[in-house]
Amino acid sequence: MFRAIDLLSGDDLKNLLKGPMVIAIDGPTASGKGTLAQRLAKRLGFAYMDTGVLYRGVAKTALDNGLDPENADDAAKAAKILAENYSLSLQEDPSLRLEKVSQAASQVASVAEVRNILLDIQKNFAKKPGKNKDGENYLGVVMDGRDVGTVICPDAHIKMYIDADAEIRAARRVEQLISKGLEATHENVLKELQIRDGRDSNRDTAPLEVADDAFTIDSSSLNANEVLARALDIVRGYLIGAQAAMKMHQY
Ligand code: C5P
Repeated sequence: MFRAIDLLSGDDLKNLLKGPMVIAIDGPTASGKGTLAQRLAKRLGFAYMDTGVLYRGVAKTALDNGLDPENADDAAKAAKILAENYSLSLQEDPSLRLEKVSQAASQVASVAEVRNILLDIQKNFAKKPGKNKDGENYLGVVMDGRDVGTVICPDAHIKMYIDADAEIRAARRVEQLISKGLEATHENVLKELQIRDGRDSNRDTAPLEVADDAFTIDSSSLNANEVLARALDIVRGYLIGAQAAMKMHQY
């Protein structure tokens, strides 16, 4: 199994980076970025944060408390409640995946104050992702979302943008929903996905966009293993460059 520390020793990586290595993975709904980010983190032995969970958590908090996710004050209230109670284990909550929560998440996500309230949680995690199950500090972190490479971690060591054709993303989502025993039609899923894409790309604060220095992977004709292989090549390339730079520095 390839791990970052196979190429550079843990100490080398620590000396070189002066902190955890940050990999930002952004992209639209159902592009495969979440699957990639989780698998990449596992493969490299890095920490993982799904930043979308924060917005989903705010949306669910709003819906559970009778607050209107489209109202900026209500959304900010929900964000404060979420920020006070947030823990990484929220990533495991399946109720955050419901379609009404997805839509409400992209509504609260367009409120600047909500994004501001959630900024520190994300920045702090990138700086200090904590310890792995063996009690060692994580050498790196993989974070997925919409604005990780542009706003949350503009200095991320590696940025990737995962994209795919909307029809293909919708087909993948339908398959996912049906496999969970939920009802879904291609037409409805495509429509919902386009609404969310439009809202995420056109909002004033931190819209979904490709960072200038991001590697783009179009996953339209790739399966999850192929996307992972491309991402690992990008990480390998980065580490080989870093290792060469470190050697030159020693002369
Ligand atoms: O990635 P996911 O589909 O879970 O995100 C749910 C919603 O949260 C997105 O549609 C988007 O509006 C918002 N989001 C965001 N910025 C992020 C992550 C998610 O605006 N970094």
